[in-house]
Amino acid sequence: MSMTKLFSPGPVMVKDNVRRALLHYDICHRSHEFEEMFQDTQAKILKLFNADDSYYSLIISGSGTSSNETVLSSIFKPDEEVLLIRNGVFGERLLEIISKYSIPLVDLSFPWATMPDLAVVEQALKDHPNVKVVAMVFHETSTGMINPVSKVGALCDKYGKIFSVDCVSAAGGQNIDVVQNHISVCTSVGGKCIGAFPGAAYICARKSLLDSLTSDQCKNVYLNLYKHYQSSITAHQTPNTPNVNLFWPLNVALTNIIEDETLAGRIARYQRCAAIIREGVLSMGCRLLLDDNMANTVTSVYLPAGMDAQNFLDEMTKRGYTFYIGKGDYGKNGMIQIANMGEIYEQDCYNMLEVFQVVLNRLGK
Ligand SMILES: Cc1ncc(COP(=O)(O)O)c(C=O)c1O
Repeated sequence: MSMTKLFSPGPVMVKDNVRRALLHYDICHRSHEFEEMFQDTQAKILKLFNADDSYYSLIISGSGTSSNETVLSSIFKPDEEVLLIRNGVFGERLLEIISKYSIPLVDLSFPWATMPDLAVVEQALKDHPNVKVVAMVFHETSTGMINPVSKVGALCDKYGKIFSVDCVSAAGGQNIDVVQNHISVCTSVGGKCIGAFPGAAYICARKSLLDSLTSDQCKNVYLNLYKHYQSSITAHQTPNTPNVNLFWPLNVALTNIIEDETLAGRIARYQRCAAIIREGVLSMGCRLLLDDNMANTVTSVYLPAGMDAQNFLDEMTKRGYTFYIGKGDYGKNGMIQIANMGEIYEQDCYNMLEVFQVVLNRLGK
């Protein structure tokens, strides 16, 4: 099969200089050269989250889930509770991690594609004084909804809670300000909006939270926030052998955003692309799952009534375009997801929409 253009929410199309960085000559992860590159990348991660010097960043060799598991398996002492706010597949993934580590849970589940009710969140905070951490997803990728992180952050500030945010599909695609949004710790990965490869995840956390960790409270050997932090502050290294070959492209992808396109420029491009996609599919008789609070990088689209989503995606793949099928019942009901993360520009969206129309016409007959 020939190469397809990825309009999927990860992995994403990467810029040539990111791909070339994979071919960097081999270096040892216990060398000064690694330490310099590691620190440079850490500084760029902080900029991605608009963090000040009260924050610190770490890189985890693994997918986005590895960064979430590192955080959630590390930050609780016995009997401390987590309040989980969820409204989609990736909130459920956080629940899976929380359950696996038997962390006492206050579970606030809202219907998918609806905004969490802040009055319910505030009441839960009043009712459960043992809650130490509030956890939620910034961009719930399964629907394309942006959750009310700044408002929940304000509640965390008011009630003195640690705020842990899964920013896997948001970092580099939405404006995330950890200071203003009272985010204590957040996570993401290379193969999403920053346009790097999957497998290099990262964490941005308040130093005060990292300083408070003890070795005992971290329940995972490899995904261990204490060990990662200690290795980094003492030696500018990682505790185990990292995927060094993915650190270079991560660094280049971050440089592309922070120093070249700028974060504001990247977000503006994503907004322009999403607007083109949304206008295009609406003009072809599709409808959108969400009316508002849509991410800059994911559009959940219902195909015209009666059209089989998988069939449609197969026809698009044959013509060089990869999308996602909607998760669970969404897919069965004809919903697909079109992402515009990474190296996708306005003209790519127009070209894709032309093919989209051809396939709709073909399958509509
Ligand atoms: C919001 C969110 N969290 C977590 C994940 C899991 O990331 P990974 O598949 O890289 O482990 C994803 C993946 O798409 C995601 O969108």
